Amino acid sequence: MLKFISLAPILLAAPMLVFAQTSNVRFDAGGKVFRLDGGGVSYVFGVNTRGELQQLYWGGRLGAADSFPQAKPMPEWASFDSSYNNTPQEFAGWGAGLFNEPALKVTFADGNRDLVLHYESHVETGHGFDVVLKDIARPIFVTLHYEMDATSGILARSATIENRGADSVTIEQAVAAAWALPAGHYTLNYLTGRWAGEWTLNQEPVLPGARVIESRRGSTGHQANPWFAIQAGDADEDHGGVWFGALAWSGSWRITVEQDQLDAVRVTGGFNPFDFGYVLKAGEKLETPVFYGGYAQDGLGGASRLLHRYELEHILPRTQATAGQAVPKVRPVIYNSWEATEFRVSEAGQMALAEKAAALGVDRFVMDDGWFGQRKDDRAGLGDWYVNKEKFPRGLKPLIDRVHALGMDFGLWVEPEMVNPDSDLYRAHPDWVLHFPGRPESEQRNQLVLNLARPDVKDYVLSFLDKLLAENDIAFLKWDYNRNWSEPGWDQLPPAEQKRVYVAFTENLYAILSELRKRHPKVEIENCSGGGGRVDLGILRYTDEVWPSDNTDPFDRLTIQDGFTYAYTPQVMMAWVTDSPHDLEHQVRVTSIPYRMLSSMQGSLGIGANIANWTPAEMTTAKRLIVAYHEVQPTIVQGALYRLISPRNGSEFSATQTVRADKGQSVVFAFIHSTEKGHSFPTLKLKGLDPAAQYALTSIEGKVSAGTPAAASGAWWMNHGLDFDNGFRGDFQAAAVRLDRK
Ligand code: GLA
Repeated sequence: MLKFISLAPILLAAPMLVFAQTSNVRFDAGGKVFRLDGGGVSYVFGVNTRGELQQLYWGGRLGAADSFPQAKPMPEWASFDSSYNNTPQEFAGWGAGLFNEPALKVTFADGNRDLVLHYESHVETGHGFDVVLKDIARPIFVTLHYEMDATSGILARSATIENRGADSVTIEQAVAAAWALPAGHYTLNYLTGRWAGEWTLNQEPVLPGARVIESRRGSTGHQANPWFAIQAGDADEDHGGVWFGALAWSGSWRITVEQDQLDAVRVTGGFNPFDFGYVLKAGEKLETPVFYGGYAQDGLGGASRLLHRYELEHILPRTQATAGQAVPKVRPVIYNSWEATEFRVSEAGQMALAEKAAALGVDRFVMDDGWFGQRKDDRAGLGDWYVNKEKFPRGLKPLIDRVHALGMDFGLWVEPEMVNPDSDLYRAHPDWVLHFPGRPESEQRNQLVLNLARPDVKDYVLSFLDKLLAENDIAFLKWDYNRNWSEPGWDQLPPAEQKRVYVAFTENLYAILSELRKRHPKVEIENCSGGGGRVDLGILRYTDEVWPSDNTDPFDRLTIQDGFTYAYTPQVMMAWVTDSPHDLEHQVRVTSIPYRMLSSMQGSLGIGANIANWTPAEMTTAKRLIVAYHEVQPTIVQGALYRLISPRNGSEFSATQTVRADKGQSVVFAFIHSTEKGHSFPTLKLKGLDPAAQYALTSIEGKVSAGTPAAASGAWWMNHGLDFDNGFRGDFQAAAVRLDRK
């Protein structure tokens, strides 16, 4: 039987307790309301009259004196849509007839599967709260952690689930957080891809039902990235409200964007419940990943600028040299030999490349795959982390010394979590891989995944890396991970507990990275998984940079990099200039050195070409542009990024601009795909400058239009705009300028 009632607004106009203004977190004991303020954002939730934790507000910052009454659960809509379903709970247990995505779903030892979480207590934690919930009858406790960044308003949320009962409980689903949006029309943005084709931005309306973005692969994956942004109906790149979030987890994950039968929009994200089943024994706790969420009023561009700053200031690790600094140092310009030599590395060959790299002005020389074990190709050697004596009869020291003498530091490729069946390690420990006994072990790229969840495997990986770093003067590791999971068995554990691998593997990966950084505080680490297959805010806490894609074609890179920057800062976006044409990723496009350089200069620049074959003229051009890059690198990779013209959807043109935090410098990159029908490059109306300041313009590459002033106000560059020379036309052309405050 249907019962029709009006869905009364949950806010009532009544005189309320005014929040104190001293801190950015406040608890109003009268209304049982928690409020967090930071940057331009307020986030408010409360204990509703039934005892559940209910979201009250997430959006632009409210007035300091604004207040909320105690939350009232949403009413029942019909006999089919209960109040429990309709109420935007902060962390809803699966029980009481919940049909939306639950935050937590468990099976108790006696078969009971009903879980209803009510507020129990809370503490203030400086920048947030820890709020304890408990099941209405059973000793399952959940502590929700909230921490709001006072500058960006980005809120970090996670949960600790604790079994204080005497019997085990199986967790079948656990999210880090659930986020509710106000009623409205929305566009969802999310990133998908594949190997050598990562970072495609998808935009689609939020419609009734659920859009599931996930990885079942054991790691983050190329296929989808744990990030979302939801625009209000009228928002675009530069204007309007955008809610966004990023999940800090490098294992299998899931984000679900739901619009329910009453049009309410909710986002949940955490461990992927597919094949999940974490047995929480008496007294045990499970920590979920952290789900970061934010709100911007200036469009998708504003959302990514907030995330970039937050990543620089709060996520990325510091080395010994940058400990305590607000942001990490800019990345050294690297040379990497992979595309030049692939597995054919040798002392003489690497030294010859190092000489050339030093002549270009490169800061760091990195030797890629092929230096260890019996590694002649991808069929053997992974797991055997000793130096190959045929290729390096004197060990690595002579090469490292030569690299140092040339004024560069030295980096090395490793793939610690993998093993080739053709290796001494696998022959000694065939049981160390993920597998189900008696079943085939599916190889990919001729390799298997070590079960890092096992303590002995974790110890082995940590100890060989520790030894490698202790015995060699290595400044940098490129940490690769070149396949996803199959047969995820862990037969050391009782059958019911084996699915723990989904959590323990990733926790051990983080633990190894963390311990290595502690023992070797000068070492920097690049996070690579066949390109951008494991990029998320979880692993970025332990790695300084990312290899976004094995696709180094400079034109493809424009869209790859464009997509990447929606979620991640250009600081971590490594971008190599490689040979042209090259066929490593089936690309045959021919492009000039300046085009390739400028494409890569939008991120953290590297050179990955066979520079042994570069002509003196090519060397001179590249060297000049590396010098120019070094001069403005902090602005490019740590400044505010404005995506002026998107390269997506076959755009004829594209352009980016970055502005240094103090607005004292700006850098503009412009690219032509292919001029059509005589179109001129559009006037670029710059953004983010100080309108009153004078900025002098200098060309980095290409010419601006003849009438362009040598210096003009920020207002001029933003309102009148910047025009390129009429000759800036053709196929695969690039130009760049810098503006410096006078
Ligand atoms: C992966 C990486 C490449 C390279 C190779 C080496 O594909 O993404 O950059 O290091 O492995 O085998």
